[in-house]
Amino acid sequence: MYRILSKDMLTPTICRMKVEAPRLAAAAKPGQFLIVRADEKGERIPLTISDYDAEEGTVTIVTQGIGASTLAINEMEPGESFADVAGPLGNPSDFCDMDAQELASQRYVFIAGGVGTAPVYPQVKWLHAHGIPVDVIIGARTKDLLIYTEEIGSVCDNLYLCTDDGSLGFHGVGTAQLEALVAEGKQYTRCVAIGPMIMMKFAVLTCKKLGIPAIVSLNTLMVDGTGMCGACRVTVGGKTRFACVEGPEFDGYEVDFDEAMRRQAQYKPEEAEAKEKHVCKIGRG
Ligand code: NAD
Ligand code: FES
Repeated sequence: MYRILSKDMLTPTICRMKVEAPRLAAAAKPGQFLIVRADEKGERIPLTISDYDAEEGTVTIVTQGIGASTLAINEMEPGESFADVAGPLGNPSDFCDMDAQELASQRYVFIAGGVGTAPVYPQVKWLHAHGIPVDVIIGARTKDLLIYTEEIGSVCDNLYLCTDDGSLGFHGVGTAQLEALVAEGKQYTRCVAIGPMIMMKFAVLTCKKLGIPAIVSLNTLMVDGTGMCGACRVTVGGKTRFACVEGPEFDGYEVDFDEAMRRQAQYKPEEAEAKEKHVCKIGRG
């Protein structure tokens, strides 16, 4: 169980793995996530599902190697197995529960940022399969960090690539690209933003300005993923909510991003120390 069937590096630090997990693949829906442990002593790492195939019995995960635990995941090879993969966790994207009439009236735009682009793919694929128009904006610091462009390009109506340094596509961030599209006359009923917390904060501010409802997927700290530990708590609409069981997607207009960013950064010193002690199995770090 949870055997790695294939692995490819999308960038020098972002790794994609297809994992044997028939029960998870049969139950997964867009927007949900998994909690992965590389080995018995491994930290529990929440990862949004980047693809699933019920017939094949596989789920796809994309991990950015930034700390000791994510580096350990990225060093695993096909044939090895994870100690456990729990899920699917969290709620599916809200469009999964829309009635046919409401769904048919939607014109979606996604803003994907960096490694947050991977979980956008199953959502766009689902909407495309249901005949709903979807435009996607993918932003990365530079062209070599753009990921999932072919996969998403094959299931969306229009794909807009942006780089902060102007090395490919629109020169600027995804929110600036959205403003330019709306200024050209594009109309959207809903924006879904997935990426770094700061990007989601600014995507929501842009959507407010443009009058577009905004959904965000919150990648908070998580421990148990079942609503028991409180690690993932966020303030939404003035109330404490648990991202693992009440999210991970929320109405972006209601999220207290400044508090969420403070909480996300609270274990940075411990993470840096653990990374320092990490001994790389394959001589990279
Ligand atoms: P990054 O810092 O390289 O940023 C990626 C892109 O986000 C930028 O190129 C830009 O287009 C956009 N962006 C950044 N700041 C912005 C701003 N102020 N306004 C508008 N756009 C902005 O990101 P990365 O290193 O690829 O990603 C790492 C982060 O993504 C981590 O914090 C990780 O936790 C998060 N992440 C989130 C999810 C999720 O579900 N929300 C999933 C995976 C990763
Ligand atoms: Fe523990 Fe959500 S991760 S309550």
